[in-house]
Amino acid sequence: MHVFNGPNLNLLGRREPAVYGHDTLADLEARCRAVTDDLGLQMCFRQSNSEGELISWVHECGESVAAGDSLGLVLNAGAYTHTSIALRDAVRGAEVPTVEVHLSNPHARETFRHHSYLSGVALGVVAGFGALGYDLAIRGLQRTKEQ
Ligand code: DQA
Repeated sequence: MHVFNGPNLNLLGRREPAVYGHDTLADLEARCRAVTDDLGLQMCFRQSNSEGELISWVHECGESVAAGDSLGLVLNAGAYTHTSIALRDAVRGAEVPTVEVHLSNPHARETFRHHSYLSGVALGVVAGFGALGYDLAIRGLQRTKEQ
């Protein structure tokens, strides 16, 4: 299981806490690890502010999935969600089963957050439940293995 976080999510805890909560990225990682441990899965948790780095990581994730070493990707691409055709192409091109996750509900925010380039290539989308959304996304991705 891979969990990737995009730009500005390294600032969690002090970035707009009214929107994103008080948990830090380290808190989020610990929470995700508790879930993957519970499911008996390995987890690779990463954050980058760079679009190109995220794309390269998606490619790596695709190789892990093809090798049977990962179930896929939980992806909070931050603002790249709304801007990056390249990240969408990476998810599709590398054939990575992906769940899109957002801490906030972008649809209840500014109109420029209403469109996601990722949703159309995602297995599912979880938004608006804060850190709990990562738990749900991980468990949702795990369920696809059982189907
Ligand atoms: C976000 C929502 C995006 O619109 C925003 O740019 C982020 C965080 C979220 O988790 O709610 O950086 O992905």
